Amino acid sequence: MSDTVYSPIGVDLEKDKKYSWCTCSHSSNQPFCDGSHRAEKATPPLSFMVEEDKKAFLCTCKKTSNPPYCDGSHK
Ligand code: FES
Repeated sequence: MSDTVYSPIGVDLEKDKKYSWCTCSHSSNQPFCDGSHRAEKATPPLSFMVEEDKKAFLCTCKKTSNPPYCDGSHK
């Protein structure tokens, strides 16, 4: 992973929908997994759901201590 600073991406999350957050940085569909981790032999995605519709800022720098959410670690 490079030292480039990646800002979080704001997304509208839907209640009870299953999401796959990219943990490996190789996805072209950040902040979500596009399957690239398989070819890269990298870490698999983190699956998560939310209990209510909400807007959230998801981490793209992959340094957050609260995945998949941004905790300000990119700064
Ligand atoms: S592409 Fe990064 S976890 Fe799947």
